[in-house]
Amino acid sequence: MNKPIRKPFRIALATIAIIIGIASPVLAGDDAISKARTSCTNKWPTDFRMQKYCLDKQKTSIQELAELFDQYSQGTVERDIVIRCRDKWAAEPGTEDYKMVLYCTNQQMEAYQALDSGSTPKADRPTPTSANDTSPTIGEALYHGKGVCKSCHGYGGDPSNLPIATGDQLKRMHPKPTDIRTSTDIQKKTDQDIFQIIKLGSPGTAMIAMDHVNDEEIWHIISYIRTINRP
Ligand code: HEC
Repeated sequence: MNKPIRKPFRIALATIAIIIGIASPVLAGDDAISKARTSCTNKWPTDFRMQKYCLDKQKTSIQELAELFDQYSQGTVERDIVIRCRDKWAAEPGTEDYKMVLYCTNQQMEAYQALDSGSTPKADRPTPTSANDTSPTIGEALYHGKGVCKSCHGYGGDPSNLPIATGDQLKRMHPKPTDIRTSTDIQKKTDQDIFQIIKLGSPGTAMIAMDHVNDEEIWHIISYIRTINRP
């Protein structure tokens, strides 16, 4: 961890940034906090305990983001990552989610730094040995269960049929999760291509590396995807 930059210095930096017009809501902490307050109120209009919990989480995330942002100078990839994640998760007025901005930032930075240090993610060239013994039934269970794929791609691959918990968040996701049933992209791809996407994610989208499922489980899921993908 880098040394935290002292607060007065951070405020000065933020002020300079605002004056010279490179301000971002991530940097301008007060602005972000007031947006987060509105978004928490919108999300939990009658539950003040959840509103407070939500706002506390948002504040910690904003603080951490500001520190991250300040560690890197303008034009660096790291800074762009923060900005892009902010644009993805805090662009829509009234629904800003800085917790997700931070999550996105951390995931992207980790991947970028791994690339930068020359260490290839071990799944870069997966050797699919277990592609044979796959079961669509096991895949279906994984897709809807441990794999959490349904949270974004919906039950049975139908993104209009989502669990209640994620329905709202997905409205502002760009690009939207693929409709697995009708995607000609998926149809055209080889099993290996799909394996890579699930294992490593699709850069710059919410389809992050699904490292909570192991290789064998991914192969089962792919066999299930093949059964529902009928464009
Ligand atoms: C947080 C939301 C999210 C979760 C969870 C998620 N995905 Fe995705 N997925 C996406 C988005 C968004 C895209 C579209 C990315 C793009 O346009 O490149 C996508 C794309 C895909 C694609 C298609 C790529 C293509 O070429 O069209 C496949 C296959 C896929 N996901 C499979 C899965 C599987 C299997 C799981 C569970 C292990 C999963 N996804 C979990 C959001 C998610």
